[in-house]
Amino acid sequence: DTPQLVDRFGRIATDLRVSLIDKCNLRCTYCMPAEGLPWLKRAELLDTAEMNRLIRIAVEELGVTAVRFTGGEPLLRQDLVEIIGATAALPSRPKTSLTTNGINLGEHAEALVSAGLNRVNVSLDTLDRAVFKELTRRDRLDDVLAGLAAAKRMRLEPVKVNAVLMRGINEHEAGDLLRYCIEHGYQLRFIEQMPLDAQHEWDRSQMITAEEILERLRAEFDLSPDVAERGSAPAERWLVDGGPATVGVIASVTRPFCAACDRTRLTADGQLRSCLFSTMETDLRGPMRAGADDAELIRLWQGEMWAKAAGHGMDSGEFAQPSRPMSAIGG
Ligand code: GTP
Ligand code: 5AD
Ligand code: SF4
Repeated sequence: DTPQLVDRFGRIATDLRVSLIDKCNLRCTYCMPAEGLPWLKRAELLDTAEMNRLIRIAVEELGVTAVRFTGGEPLLRQDLVEIIGATAALPSRPKTSLTTNGINLGEHAEALVSAGLNRVNVSLDTLDRAVFKELTRRDRLDDVLAGLAAAKRMRLEPVKVNAVLMRGINEHEAGDLLRYCIEHGYQLRFIEQMPLDAQHEWDRSQMITAEEILERLRAEFDLSPDVAERGSAPAERWLVDGGPATVGVIASVTRPFCAACDRTRLTADGQLRSCLFSTMETDLRGPMRAGADDAELIRLWQGEMWAKAAGHGMDSGEFAQPSRPMSAIGG
């Protein structure tokens, strides 16, 4: 039978997250500084053929059934449509999805669907133009909302919206965001802020917890647990006012879901990560450029996953934030 990406704890990775580029056209304060970051250089990035080769190996040789493209902002990658097309056309027909800030989604949605994209998740932390500008340091709220509408129109469903609540900034908007998403047919998930910011300013005591998010929502909505199978999904879901609308909470910090993790990650510069919080990576770019065959890359990938930790260990006292920020890992 075919080899798989299995770890010492028996978890099998069937979900590949590919960060295609570390650059972004927003500057969310909880993610990166105003001046941006020292971006990866062109030669460091995997090119189209290298990306397609590694994705093919994951899907056709290692049992990956779903591929999510992330960034930075994946729509900034010129060959995004080409890579999605190659992925969707693989004989095993993996599910494909995109996590984007939505800004250029309006103009690209049709080409993405034609290439075979199945779904999108869009980041939207506020519906207030002034707050959006303060939080992302760019005045692009309308572009994001247009991107979301295009996704819905193109049936990239379910269209999911990701929101991070920040104390003193957008925490009062939980209810407004939920009403907006229900009205437009988007599935909203609130995310606990994780220690993955480039500035290393994350402070647990400032984080808005799942508990607090739910408390805020319960003041305005009736929430009941969604009995649908959660599987390895990071979000816990609730039915809103009896359903069918739902709201999710991704409580990575206070309610970790590492035990059910089915993920493996590839960065834009060809490094494998078994976990969002890995402090070690396995380089595939070097071996690939030195002429490694598929069998060698498969061994390296399996080795990385075998070394996967049981969990992120945020509560262990020995926890250290990875040196790579979220924007270069892909979330
Ligand atoms: P769905 O398949 O639509 O549920 O996608 P997703 O929620 O897994 O992906 P998305 O890119 O939308 O990520 C939403 C949030 O979940 C982001 O903040 C991610 O960083 C976080 N996330 C995704 N995968 C993991 C994971 O394996 N561990 C942790 N701790 N967080 C994750
Ligand atoms: N913690 C949690 N979520 C984050 N995101 C970006 N940085 C962080 C962080 N430190 C979110 C983005 C996007 C999703 C992919 O991850 O807002 O919605
Ligand atoms: Fe860009 Fe996402 Fe970081 Fe915001 S959180 S700056 S959209 S990579």
